[in-house]
Amino acid sequence: MEKLLIEGGKRLSGTIHVSGAKNAAIAIIPAVLLVEGVCRIENIPQIKDVEVIVNILKFLGAEVSYVEQDVLEIDASCVNTYYADCELAKSMRASYYLLGALLGRFGNAKVSMPGGCDFGSRPIDLHIKGFEALGATVTVDRDVVIATSEHLFADSVYLDFPSVGATINIMLAATRIPGTTVIENAAKEPHVVDLANFLNQMGAKIKGAGTDVIRIMGVDKLSGGTYSIIPDQIEAGTYMIAAAAAGGDVTVENLIPKHMESLSAKLEEAGITITEMDDSIRVRSDGNFKKINVKTMPYPGFPTDLQPQIVSFLTRANGTSNVIEGVWESRFQYTDELLKFGAQIKIEDEKAIVHGIPKLYGTEVKATDLRAGAGMIIAALMAEGFSKISNVCHIDRGYENLVEKLKNVGASIRRIEE
Ligand code: EPZ
Repeated sequence: MEKLLIEGGKRLSGTIHVSGAKNAAIAIIPAVLLVEGVCRIENIPQIKDVEVIVNILKFLGAEVSYVEQDVLEIDASCVNTYYADCELAKSMRASYYLLGALLGRFGNAKVSMPGGCDFGSRPIDLHIKGFEALGATVTVDRDVVIATSEHLFADSVYLDFPSVGATINIMLAATRIPGTTVIENAAKEPHVVDLANFLNQMGAKIKGAGTDVIRIMGVDKLSGGTYSIIPDQIEAGTYMIAAAAAGGDVTVENLIPKHMESLSAKLEEAGITITEMDDSIRVRSDGNFKKINVKTMPYPGFPTDLQPQIVSFLTRANGTSNVIEGVWESRFQYTDELLKFGAQIKIEDEKAIVHGIPKLYGTEVKATDLRAGAGMIIAALMAEGFSKISNVCHIDRGYENLVEKLKNVGASIRRIEE
């Protein structure tokens, strides 16, 4: 079994380059199903989730090739099936984007969904509500979702919660429906905006992405073109927190500082020195910092996908911090693993009470999901002695070259087989 071996206590110093955004890439790649012609997509991250979605497109009959290491060319004109009920689709949660894309292309979709979940319950009722508002009939037969329609039509959809996935899926389904579809209480996350920008670049007419009302004026046809994916907000945030936690002087480059505002503000409140530049942020920390309270919220709030990393950071803060999870029903299971480092954390419903202590101690833990894995790495970087982290496959789903990037700034980290 592959594990990460980390010796903690090293100061980090240097520059880390952020890759293309995972959650934008895994929405934009299936969106190509709506396009006639070749799409050239740049700044593609080299991660497992992208590999899986690319293989699903190939399975459906799209022509896909890497023309450079981070540049994909995809022509999905020849796809003539809406059946994506395959093992590959089952292996990744975001395969639900195939529903919106295939429905938008063919008026029908049949997609396998993952049975198990990374953390807690991950419903898709809001996606279904959106498809039904546009005239589709949706049935769920165990792990296969089937959406059918005779005639899709534009309408208004109000989301009870600004769900990222439902917003993206409705946008995908509506892009080619005549008339104007309106999504109210839409998600405003950077990757929602990135998908809208991609679709507009290919000829769609979508306005308001990044606000809570998105208007999609349906077009007959989308044509091929070139698009470059935004930098990964969560990868950037993970390295900013790692530098703050381990101590040192690290510049995280190729990011959009605006996307990082909620994190930068919280790190500054904890006593970390943050310097914003055009497309990079310098993080300086002497390894001593104070307690803060954090509540995760939809964008522009503090991202839930940085919650395990900030909890990990706060285990060594001076004082007791409260971290409230405001997006997912249960996203604190991983804290049991953090306790193995000696951390003092108490969970009360949706709140983690983190009592900061001066020292963590190296141990053996597992990455229970992708961001929890990132949290374990941050704890191991702070801990005295050696730590081993198993279930590395979760981390590889979403972080490109993580070991090399951390090594380059002075971390002692390597992959081992045990
Ligand atoms: C996206 O998931 C991200 N995944 C998640 O990142 C991220 O945690 C989440 O957005 C929130 O920012 C991708 O982009 C692929 P939601 P998504 O729909 O779209 C409830 C990572 O680590 N809800 O915004 O599935 C839901 O239970 C991953 O990169 C419904 O009730 O999240 C949750 O409480 C993990 N019904 C809240 O909304 C629905 O139909 C937010 O979910 C849909 C969601």
